[in-house]
Amino acid sequence: MSTMTPRPPGRLIGASLGPGDPALITRRAWDALQSGARWLYPVKKAESASYALGIVERGGLHVPADAEALVFPMTRDPVALARAWSRAATRTVELLREGRDLVFLVEGDASTFATFGHLARVVRELAPEVEVDTIPGVSAFAAAAAITATPLAEEDETFAVIPAAYGIEVIARLIDDFDTLVLLKVKPLLDELIELLRQRGLLQHACFIEKVGAPEERIVHDVAGLAGEKVNYLSLLLVRNPERVRGELRRGCRKRL
Ligand SMILES: C[S@@+](CC[C@H](N)C(=O)[O-])C[C@H]1O[C@@H](n2cnc3c(N)ncnc32)[C@H](O)[C@@H]1O
Repeated sequence: MSTMTPRPPGRLIGASLGPGDPALITRRAWDALQSGARWLYPVKKAESASYALGIVERGGLHVPADAEALVFPMTRDPVALARAWSRAATRTVELLREGRDLVFLVEGDASTFATFGHLARVVRELAPEVEVDTIPGVSAFAAAAAITATPLAEEDETFAVIPAAYGIEVIARLIDDFDTLVLLKVKPLLDELIELLRQRGLLQHACFIEKVGAPEERIVHDVAGLAGEKVNYLSLLLVRNPERVRGELRRGCRKRL
């Protein structure tokens, strides 16, 4: 009988890198990248560039020779998606079982609409003994709010973050309910969103931000001027509604004057 104890698997670390400016990589993520953990980074297709890897390279870190790309295709085809996810998770578990930590590079924040959450869940299903460490980071909408000096919420204001795919009717309702709306993944619906903002008289309270923090960053205040344009997937809209009517707040939750 063998007395050898099996080697424990490595940890799976989700390193949030912020939305594009390497100065927004947190110290914890920076340390994880330099900890000797093996790097994994997401790509849309084999051999295509990785936005997340680009952030780290701009930060001046050398990409280790054994860094590995995992393919997460941008498709709605459920078969292709399931196949890609299964391949990515199986490979991740295989590498973790070699005993070395893995650091998965995440654009923005790893807990906000990120591939990492799903990857970590599938990995845990395949290998429940794997420890997962999620390093928080700066989301694209936080950086977009900062660079455009748009408050997301002040005092007792509210804000909502929603993928535009929920559609115009839902967004029209949310405009009434929140002081600020953050609309993500706006690319396919941009013209309809511009029309909605025009109808509601909110065009001058909206701002479009593309690739915030990256060298190609674009900030557009004249949102109507974007009508008909094909924008990048990495773009969002911030919309303030100064007309929002607020309900009563409970006593005790308000700052005393
Ligand atoms: C899958 S989500 C990723 C969100 C990311 N994990 C974060 O914390 O910001 C992708 C959407 O986030 C927004 N986004 C992500 N990075 C961006 C960037 N650098 N500039 C502008 N919008 C970005 C866009 O709306 C894009 O369609």
